[in-house]
Amino acid sequence: MVYNSKLNAARKAIEYIEDGLVVGIGSGTTVEIFIKELGKKIVNENIEITGVASSLKSHMLAVESGIAVSDLIQFPEPDIYVDGADQIDLQFNCIKGGGAALTREKIVAHASKKFVVIVDSSKIVEKLHMPVPVEIIPFAYGYVEKKIRQCGGRITLREGGGKFGPVVSDNGNLIADCDFGVLNEPEELEKTINFIPGVLENGIFSKEIVDSVIAGEEGGVKVLK
Ligand code: 5RP
Repeated sequence: MVYNSKLNAARKAIEYIEDGLVVGIGSGTTVEIFIKELGKKIVNENIEITGVASSLKSHMLAVESGIAVSDLIQFPEPDIYVDGADQIDLQFNCIKGGGAALTREKIVAHASKKFVVIVDSSKIVEKLHMPVPVEIIPFAYGYVEKKIRQCGGRITLREGGGKFGPVVSDNGNLIADCDFGVLNEPEELEKTINFIPGVLENGIFSKEIVDSVIAGEEGGVKVLK
C-alpha cells in the first residue's frame, strides 16, 4: 500500500528532527503523515520544535498536531525543510506543486539549511516527464499562455475541486500545468519558465537544492542521498 511507503519515508525523516530545531514543513499527503508523526514526537520526547509551513493546509494541520508554528520573518533560515515531491529523477531533480503550493515550497526549500525530500518510491523516474505546475499572476495569464506555447509546452489551467473555476493558490494566483514531455534539461527549463513576466514560480526544483532523498517502500526505506 502506498500509505505504508509514505509512512516509512515520513518516519525516517522524523529521525532527523532534534530538540530546538526550526523545521520547514512542506505540503501534501506524505507531509501530512510527517506532521502527525512530528506532533507525536514532540509529546513523547517532550521536545521543542518550531514549524514554518509552506501552505495554509500544513499550517493548520501543524497547529492541530500541537506544533508551534512561526514564519520566515521570525526564522528566515529554518534548520531543515521536509517536503514531498510528485516526481524525482535519478539526479534528484524534482517536480513539485501537485498541491499548488510550489511557490512557498520553493521559498522555504531555498531558505532552509537542509532540504529533505520524502517520497514513496513510485515517484522516482529515470527522467522527469509530468506536466510542470506554474504559478501565474491572473493579470498575465493570456500572455504567459502564449509564451509557454512558444516554448513548446501544452498548457492547461488547473480547475478546482469543490470550487467552480480555476484553482487559486495560497498567494491568490492561478496554477497551470505545462506539459513539455520528457525534461532533458530541467534546470534550463526552470529558468526559462521563470523568465516569463507574469510567472511567479514553477514546480521544477533542481538537484542543487536537494540535500537528502528518502524513498519509502512497503517494507522499509532507502536513503538515496
Ligand atoms: C504540493 C507538493 C507535494 O509535495 C507533492 O504534490 C507531493 O504530494 P503527495 O505527498 O501528496 O504525493 O508539491 O504542492
